[in-house]
Amino acid sequence: MKVLVFGGSGQVGSELKRIIALNDSVRFVDRLEADFTKPEMIERLTEDFQPTHIINAVGYTAVDQAELEESLALSVNAEAVKVIASCATRLDAMLIHYSTDYVFDGSSSRPYEENDVPNPLGVYGKSKLLGEVHIKEAGCRYMILRTSWVISATGKNFIKTILKLAKDKDQLTVVNDQIGAPTSAKLIARVTWELIQKDAQNLLSSGVYHLCSSGEASWFDVAVHAINRVINAGVLLACDSNKVAPITTLEYLARATRPLNSRLNSNKLERLLAAHMPHWTAGVDGTIDELIEKGFLK
Ligand SMILES: NC(=O)c1ccc[n+]([C@@H]2O[C@H](COP(=O)([O-])OP(=O)(O)OC[C@H]3O[C@@H](n4cnc5c(N)ncnc54)[C@H](OP(=O)(O)O)[C@@H]3O)[C@@H](O)[C@H]2O)c1
Repeated sequence: MKVLVFGGSGQVGSELKRIIALNDSVRFVDRLEADFTKPEMIERLTEDFQPTHIINAVGYTAVDQAELEESLALSVNAEAVKVIASCATRLDAMLIHYSTDYVFDGSSSRPYEENDVPNPLGVYGKSKLLGEVHIKEAGCRYMILRTSWVISATGKNFIKTILKLAKDKDQLTVVNDQIGAPTSAKLIARVTWELIQKDAQNLLSSGVYHLCSSGEASWFDVAVHAINRVINAGVLLACDSNKVAPITTLEYLARATRPLNSRLNSNKLERLLAAHMPHWTAGVDGTIDELIEKGFLK
């Protein structure tokens, strides 16, 4: 087994680096070695390494900025993915790729299942959906793992942003009408590695799978939970959870339109792994504990 991982510096990539033992059969590739706006770099690297498994943890993830940089978002999330998928087809390698709840418009009244019809509301979601289409058309073996609201102690995410704000400001407003489940990059990395072990035993079939924590919450609920956790750990914040006020998505005035329902149903993946997804609070608590340990709020 030879595993090539694109993107070791992001939230998911960093967690993959922590759990996959580095040896001659594993290679992590960063932007310097493979810039996704230069697909020939991807081809050269893949041909040189001859992987049996490719993990693509690279993504253009700036949802609002994507509205202003459509061609860059499309290059990274769709065109480069097409190149990776065609390399995977040529080498008969399994491609594990991450996609998003933002491929849906959020109008459903229940958690989204894999076969629900996508209808992205913004450029980011459109570019990720096109990446999925390219993978399916390439004819390679693949697992597309759609996840949501990724959090970790590294990189940029909601938990880090809200805790920094709560440290400095005595009042906060947080959106209360988008519902989903924060999913830790640790969980995503762990499941990815388990899937690769399963593939090595020929236990996988290609497809789209939803990989999301169980339970559901609004961003407001997540903020309140996170602030309480930090205060209970003895860290001083300027804002306690009583000073967090709920607002609507319309009041928040973001550039990109986001789905109000970001819930993903992970039953298909749970059946494959014979395991239940942990509740979102477990990932949030773990992330906060790690942040406190790292002195993030000092
Ligand atoms: N974040 C979320 O809430 C979320 C939700 C659902 C799905 N996802 C999907 O999950 C996957 C991983 O997300 P994440 O949160 O780990 O992302 P992230 O923290 O934003 O990391 C993005 C990674 O992509 C790399 N990258 C970006 N542009 C590149 C380029 N032109 N060439 C080469 N590398 C480039 C970054 O490298 P540098 O460090 O050099 O910039 C970084 O390693 C993505 O496919 C994303 O779409 C994320």
